[in-house]
Amino acid sequence: MPSRTTISPPGEGDPMKHAVVTGGAKGIGLGVVRELTAGGWTCSILDADPAGRIVADELGGAFVRVDVTQPEDLQRAFAEVAGRFGSLLGLVNSAGINRTGPSSELAAADWQRVIDIDLSGTFYACQAAYPHLAPGAAIVNLASVFAMRALPGRVAYAAAKHGVVGITRVLAVEWADRPIRVNAVAPSWTDTPLIRDQVAAGTLDLAVLEHVPFRRLASV
Ligand SMILES: NC(=O)c1ccc[n+]([C@@H]2O[C@H](COP(=O)([O-])OP(=O)(O)OC[C@H]3O[C@@H](n4cnc5c(N)ncnc54)[C@H](O)[C@@H]3O)[C@@H](O)[C@H]2O)c1
Repeated sequence: MPSRTTISPPGEGDPMKHAVVTGGAKGIGLGVVRELTAGGWTCSILDADPAGRIVADELGGAFVRVDVTQPEDLQRAFAEVAGRFGSLLGLVNSAGINRTGPSSELAAADWQRVIDIDLSGTFYACQAAYPHLAPGAAIVNLASVFAMRALPGRVAYAAAKHGVVGITRVLAVEWADRPIRVNAVAPSWTDTPLIRDQVAAGTLDLAVLEHVPFRRLASV
């Protein structure tokens, strides 16, 4: 068995508290970037939406435009931000989408897009980050309540988020010796552009909030 290294929090003279947040241009990822920055972290935003550059300019981090479905994009982006700010102590995988509709009619392209971004994108980002993660680093993957609960019309999303939990469990045991912690969080409906767009498109009825004890959206 390889020996385990003790995890100690970074102190004076230690590397910069540098985190990468995929999907950090909007929604939950943007909230994470703001919180981490307020806590003294430097954040590198990896997102397909160029709005991430405005956030990075405002908060003093970096932005690299990537599509998380493209492993080579991610490898280049992680190398670039690690070259600029040093190795990573954090990675938050928040890039994600949803496509809803009856399972009997869901287009194959919609199924594939959700799997590509939410599931494969999460794995590709973990893999691309691996060589740049400092000992003691933490990865947090965005799963969802749909990794545990079912409602109609969300088959691709539920499959992807169950898969995110699987990725998280395997990496957590595989990378523990470095040591790197790998965890997932499973939010319920949260007030972000993802949810607002679905409500506007008529693909999400906020009557679903009857399943939430507080009967309201979570806020970022
Ligand atoms: N909002 C919710 O109710 C909720 C609940 C549970 C889990 N989640 C999960 O949390 C994460 C963030 O959701 P959100 O509500 O903040 O969504 P959002 O749409 O507000 O933000 C998602 C971000 O991901 C980026 N993104 C999408 N596809 C990408 C791609 N191919 N490459 C790079 N970036 C891409 C978008 O540009 C955007 O900035 C997602 O994984 C989502 O499934 C959201």
